[in-house]
Amino acid sequence: MSDRITIRRPDDWHLHFRDGDVMRDVVPYTARQFARAIVMPNLTPPVTTTALAAAYRDRIRAAVPAGVSFEPLMVCYLTDTTDADDLARGAAQGVFTSAKIYPANATTNSAAGVSSIEGLYPVLARMEAEDIVLCIHGEVTDHDVDVFDREKAFIDRHLRAIVEAFPKLRVVFEHITTADAVDFVLAAGPNVAATITPQHLHINRNAMLVGGIQPHNYCLPVAKREEHRLALRKAATGGSAKFFLGTDSAPHLRRAKEAACGCAGIFGAPFALESYLTVFDEEGALDKFEGFASLNGPAFYRLPVNEETVTLERADVAVPQYLAVTGEEIVPWHGGQTLGWKFLG
Ligand code: DOR
Ligand code: ZN
Repeated sequence: MSDRITIRRPDDWHLHFRDGDVMRDVVPYTARQFARAIVMPNLTPPVTTTALAAAYRDRIRAAVPAGVSFEPLMVCYLTDTTDADDLARGAAQGVFTSAKIYPANATTNSAAGVSSIEGLYPVLARMEAEDIVLCIHGEVTDHDVDVFDREKAFIDRHLRAIVEAFPKLRVVFEHITTADAVDFVLAAGPNVAATITPQHLHINRNAMLVGGIQPHNYCLPVAKREEHRLALRKAATGGSAKFFLGTDSAPHLRRAKEAACGCAGIFGAPFALESYLTVFDEEGALDKFEGFASLNGPAFYRLPVNEETVTLERADVAVPQYLAVTGEEIVPWHGGQTLGWKFLG
């Protein structure tokens, strides 16, 4: 068994940096491990225009520690009134790498999201023509649909139709959580891919609800049954180029998580590679790790792979229970646990 692994420097194809003081404190965790990251645009107000994205990108770049090379890749938050010309211009200028559908009220800061997916079809047609990648938070928000069924319902009600209507549109089904999503992505053409988070590879829904409510295991889409976790592990570690790394790192302060109405989101950035690599190791798939972490994402986004490398070695790493963000406590993913891989840089 190999005790060391060296791979091309990976990228994180889905995360949340927030803005202001929180952003300045969390960017270094990601920049330490990853060369690039797709930065989700669900700020208040959301990042809906090229000008807003360019300014946000400048603020992120200013938060990257000196001597560290890291590039944020920006995303346009789609709304019912998205200006397709501005989106196309922003993409042509290299400001936007993709655009994101948040069904209205599906998750944190998604109130301005898309209220009618069909209403967005003219924008999707333009994105297909301009070859702009579409990222999707794939959950319906209908109150009559059980929270555990919302991803599958989204596939049946919307995603299948989008992929049929726009056969050339590149679509990333974000943070998939079900065997249904795995099957959908595998059956679709090479223009459809998915990101998978570390938490959905490690936990099923029991981790959220057994032995008391565990808010630090709560994110959206929520973790599902064990059979779904096993399907995700097989997808991530199975060598298909359709699946790649996206932590969905979503920092919320401890007090906002441990509250009567706790926020959805897991702060996965600080020990992201250690977390993913543990899964690949358990699955006997260390040889598939570089593809998932460093090759499949750039291939799908048609960006160059990174030239630098990172190395991890087999060694105990104690993940702190809390980290300081804006002088307050935040609980990282695996907080208080010991992982078996150490990131050497
Ligand atoms: O758990 C989540 N947190 N899921 C999302 O889709 C959004 C994210 C956030 O921004 O906090
Ligand atoms: Zn997210």
